Amino acid sequence: MSIQKVGVLGCGLMGAGIAQTAASSGFDVLVREVSDELIQKGFNGIDKSLGKFAEKGTITSQQQAEIRGRLTGTTSLEDLADCDIVIEAIIENLEVKRDTYKQLDGICKPETIFASNTSSISITEMMTATRAERQARFIGMHFFNPVPIMKLVEVVRTILTDEQVYEEAVEFGKRLGKTPVRASDKTGFIVNRLLVPYMLDAIRALEEGVGSIVDIDNAMKLGCGYPMGPFTLGDFVGLDTTYYIAEIMFNEFREKRFAPPSLLKRMVLAGLYGRKSGRGFYDYTKDPKNPTPMSLV
Ligand code: 3HC
Repeated sequence: MSIQKVGVLGCGLMGAGIAQTAASSGFDVLVREVSDELIQKGFNGIDKSLGKFAEKGTITSQQQAEIRGRLTGTTSLEDLADCDIVIEAIIENLEVKRDTYKQLDGICKPETIFASNTSSISITEMMTATRAERQARFIGMHFFNPVPIMKLVEVVRTILTDEQVYEEAVEFGKRLGKTPVRASDKTGFIVNRLLVPYMLDAIRALEEGVGSIVDIDNAMKLGCGYPMGPFTLGDFVGLDTTYYIAEIMFNEFREKRFAPPSLLKRMVLAGLYGRKSGRGFYDYTKDPKNPTPMSLV
């Protein structure tokens, strides 16, 4: 089977980015959200991102219009029935995901591949919400923020994934213009397995007084050539998301390196989620941004 029609579940930051990427690669894309308002919000983000590419001359205004023309929004799960692949990027909640997959299993044609963009929930645990035949066609496709820019996709297989389906998904990742890497369904896959302990260690270094927020960020940015230091990256990913992923990884591996430091927990409790809430390690409500004043003693 060759993938032609792509379904995307969820039109938040990741879902919209995946939908945009697929449409930019020539696929017809149907995006399902729970309300028209959320579809509109997601599509506004896509327009903004496409606008940036058009401004730079990466795409022409005609291509911009063609990409937009390949994107359709819907609030009905039933509309995804004849998609060749459905990529799910909804809320990171196992029960909500399992319930959605169960419904979708009864709606989609038998050949449809189910792919989750989860960063930390077990693909196997979601997969078991579907029938045995679908389980062989159930994989992870983990993209990175901002999806239209970041070149990686982790293609994740479970112990039951059909080899041909898996290779088809890897090929599909390439057709999206990404470099696919193969990973097995072990929490965090490759990137978060390495990235999360690094980000948590940076917070522990801050707690221990090794350096300031700005100095630790600059050290990793300028000393290692990373595009963002660990605190800027944490604010970008979302500190609530980082905390949530760390908790799941700690529960899976029971290793201290995955345990969320108490400062991270307290920042999340205090509503300091990063860019999305206006304040995290930095205060984005002011220009230029400065570190958020926090007492560390
Ligand atoms: N759409 C289109 N263009 C975009 C864009 C978007 N969504 N976001 C950024 N750009 C463009 C900008 O227009 C700019 O273009 P230009 O260089 O031609 O002017 C270019 O990308 C660079 O953007 P900025 O100048 O605003 O800022 P940076 O140079 O810092 O780049 C960045 C931004 C690409 C986000 C870069 O900082 C970066 O790569 N950061 C690291 C991101 C990262 O690590 N992501 C992974 C997070 S982990 C994750 O997602 C997994 C999850 O499970 C937690």
